[in-house]
Amino acid sequence: MKFTFRDAAAAGLPRLRAQIVDQDALPADLEPAVIEGAEAARFSGKVGQTFEIFVSRGGAVVRLALAGAGQASAADRTAALEKAGAALSARFLTSGETAIALDLSLASLSAEDAAAVLLGLRLRAWRHDYRTRLKDEQKVSLAEAVITGAPAGTEAAWNALEGVVAGVEFTRELVTEPANIIYPESFVERCKARFEGTGVEITVLDETEMAALGMGALLGVAQGSARKPRLLALKWNGGAADEKPVAFVGKGVTFDTGGISIKPAAGMEDMKWDMGGAGAVAGALLALAKRKAKANIVGVCGLVENMPDGNAQRPGDVVTSMSGQTIEVINTDAEGRLVLCDAITWVQKEHQPTAIVDLATLTGAIIISLAHEYAGMFCNDEPLAEKLNAAGKATGEGLWRMPIGPAYDKMIDSPIADMKNVGSRWGGSITAAQFIQRFVETGTPWAHLDIAGTVWVDKPGATWDKGATGFGVRLLDRFVRDNLEA
Ligand code: BES
Ligand code: MN
Ligand code: ZN
Repeated sequence: MKFTFRDAAAAGLPRLRAQIVDQDALPADLEPAVIEGAEAARFSGKVGQTFEIFVSRGGAVVRLALAGAGQASAADRTAALEKAGAALSARFLTSGETAIALDLSLASLSAEDAAAVLLGLRLRAWRHDYRTRLKDEQKVSLAEAVITGAPAGTEAAWNALEGVVAGVEFTRELVTEPANIIYPESFVERCKARFEGTGVEITVLDETEMAALGMGALLGVAQGSARKPRLLALKWNGGAADEKPVAFVGKGVTFDTGGISIKPAAGMEDMKWDMGGAGAVAGALLALAKRKAKANIVGVCGLVENMPDGNAQRPGDVVTSMSGQTIEVINTDAEGRLVLCDAITWVQKEHQPTAIVDLATLTGAIIISLAHEYAGMFCNDEPLAEKLNAAGKATGEGLWRMPIGPAYDKMIDSPIADMKNVGSRWGGSITAAQFIQRFVETGTPWAHLDIAGTVWVDKPGATWDKGATGFGVRLLDRFVRDNLEA
């Protein structure tokens, strides 16, 4: 959706006009029919509530919408304003209107508040599908928003957010694409195209290069697929030249059949989004580059497809990771950790990061624990955990801290190798985290975010439709903004 900012002059505004209103405070200058209509429809301006009415203004018919922003004094004001903007997109995206005039002259709005409305409007309007037979009323019509009455500084505040929106949209796109379209090589190509001109340095390792480095864990997962694996590194150098980067590492399993430990057919199509961690890392790097973040960040995506062909790895196989540690592969469906461990070893050897945050759709068990409300956070460092938690709260991409420790670590000891790739039935998300921790050098602050429950949802949420949420991009962007750029 394209935004243009202008003065409030009514001439030439589109028919559809929207106004953000605080709860229980309808503007007194509204037409009596609007006020009476809103009251009769029980519209009070609660967060995300909308009301629509046609009125005659200056001889023209105006389609007027009100969107509720809740109480002006509420603690979660920013989230409420995002929801107000999002509610307008949800309501009018396929309304037949091609443009919306959005009046932000509400006295209680700062420039940042106004930008939050725009963020919600834009994020909720994103769509990506391959349907060619849509009825007219199902087609997206809304393509433009004319912003009027915005407080001074709104355009600048919005410009700072636009990079983040581009990042979220890129992640959603990667996550939504089916596995015949996004596979390791095409993931890399899509990134190369999207990062052109951004200043991000791209490094790609192919199979042969990874074999030479000894990445036996990642390659063991890849060997059952006709699709060749890739390791993709995206480096943004916005900080001091001599400063070591923070690393974001993403699980990029472009399709997870489970391998020989094959998954049941029902719902297997969901495993196209098993690259959501890598998608979030790519989107976050795009956001940081677009808004020229003053920090050094390296994003690493471990890209493989987990398939069960005649060359696939078997349960019981022992593989040697790049770290030299050996792994007994008990279950070929616990493949994410096998990909992440080599990606994490590589980034430590290559970039000596000051901290590592990995993101992975790693376990079904985290969905059992937290449903779709929070991502699980496993962390070896209190300050890092606090910073990530704060970023999660500020962006609505919530994290819930989970435990790690020696008792859980013991559960992945193996009689034939340094470790096995699964624990027992219990605490599945925790033993997965313990596995990853064995590849993090002592002294390096590290957090593992299990995002299996948050990258894809079956029902619309605050600023997303059903489908890909783009989870992780806003969180990582905010973490960088608040802690590395200060
Ligand atoms: N990609 C899955 C985890 C997953 C499951 C994500 C459902 C989203 C929805 C992961 O590779 C996996 O298969 N994990 C197994 C681990 C088990 C074999 C120890 C799981 O969670 O069942
Ligand atoms: Mn799996
Ligand atoms: Zn997986």
